[in-house]
Amino acid sequence: MFLTRLVYASSISDKFSCDDVEHILAEAREHNKENNVTGMLCFDSKHFLQCIEGSRINVNNTYHKILNDKRHCQVIILDYKEIPMREFSDWSMGYLPESSLTTSLNLKYSGSAEFSPYDMSGDGAHLMLLELKELTEPAC
Ligand SMILES: Cc1cc2nc3c(=O)[nH]c(=O)nc-3n(C[C@H](O)[C@H](O)[C@H](O)COP(=O)(O)O)c2cc1C
Repeated sequence: MFLTRLVYASSISDKFSCDDVEHILAEAREHNKENNVTGMLCFDSKHFLQCIEGSRINVNNTYHKILNDKRHCQVIILDYKEIPMREFSDWSMGYLPESSLTTSLNLKYSGSAEFSPYDMSGDGAHLMLLELKELTEPAC
């Protein structure tokens, strides 16, 4: 069973409300534990950047659910790869809020000082998530 990693960017839709992030995280953590999916979610109040990793079938099934979720739109895959090992194995879904997304980090991984996941390469988005991983406790 191959391990794979998928990284995508999306934008909040008009169906999104502020409380949704907590609901999304609770759902994600519950489902991901059942499905041995791990990863990290960043959110800056407008855009999501998320990495999910796990078996090919579980990553695909999870991505299909995410893609059809009406709380966000313009869901674009930035990167999809077979991987030899997980990098977020301690997180059923880690979370990085807007305060983690500093100007220097945004400039390091994109052409903009704002959080701009659509303007990141797949490798850049992945590397940014890895760097952000160091800032969060594996409590989830
Ligand atoms: C930005 C975003 C990220 C999400 N991440 C996950 C995730 O990692 N895993 C997951 O199971 N659901 C995730 N969801 C929720 C799914 O879209 C879906 O609502 C949830 O899995 C419930 O599926 P169910 O109807 O089969 O119970 C996410 C939704 C959004 C909007």
